Amino acid sequence: MDNNNLALLGPIPEGNLTQDMLLEHAKNMLDSMLDFKELLLGYNCAIKEIKTKFDVLNTEFEVRYRRNPISSIHTRLKSQTSIMEKLGRLGLEMTRDNIEQNLHDIAGIRVICSYVDDIYSIADAFIRQADITLISRKDYIKNPKPNGYRSLHLIVSVPIFFSNEVKNVHAEIQIRTIAMDFWASLEHQIKYKQNVRNAADIAEQLRKCAEVIAATDNMMKNIRTKIDSERGEQSEEEIIFEKLKKFDINLG
Ligand code: GTP
Ligand code: MG
Repeated sequence: MDNNNLALLGPIPEGNLTQDMLLEHAKNMLDSMLDFKELLLGYNCAIKEIKTKFDVLNTEFEVRYRRNPISSIHTRLKSQTSIMEKLGRLGLEMTRDNIEQNLHDIAGIRVICSYVDDIYSIADAFIRQADITLISRKDYIKNPKPNGYRSLHLIVSVPIFFSNEVKNVHAEIQIRTIAMDFWASLEHQIKYKQNVRNAADIAEQLRKCAEVIAATDNMMKNIRTKIDSERGEQSEEEIIFEKLKKFDINLG
């Protein structure tokens, strides 16, 4: 059997099938299903590793600066149907090599930050880590998509330590603010609604909403920076109280 082929239903042998032939076919099918499961295991572990890295950074910021730069983290493993669909769109067969070399978003991590500048601080701190290799970085915040979409996208490779081997696995990380995420979620829903009348008009309204949201994000960041700078003028009593409050932080 071609051990790279992950098509779950290989062609059934033709002619009069003996019991042995059917058994062989069933075994091959099970093998390719298990190969696929093992492939997904790598991506599933990459999600866990990367999520932990962002959790650690968030807790570190909380203890050091009493502030959570990350509001939430969402993860998803691309479904088998989506993997098959995407390979089909690319005109590729369902093989392990094709998946590993062409699909970089099987492991998906979305990090939702409170403020725009947090996106860059968190992304830089993550990329600097010795075991993370940056494959590509697309800054749709500095260069929004024509429809108004904003987010920082990273494709990275992370080593996964199994009992007998180390596998380097790719993952897609999207980092955006709460406001950008609100826009992207609604735009995603609207995009898939069929038969929309005045599609061009709606697209223009969505683009305007994205601009309003970006302006609001910027204002919120400026407010926080202003409050932070006033913190420098705290009394001795306030400084001690701030330090004491750090002991209440739950380290999980
Ligand atoms: P895909 O083939 O869709 O993965 O796109 P790509 O390889 O060209 O990468 P890109 O960075 O453009 O998009 C990757 C992912 O970002 C998508 O799968 C979506 O989750 C998200 N994304 C990109 N553009 C948009 C957009 O206009 N609206 C929304 N809601 N999400 C988007
Ligand atoms: Mg994608």
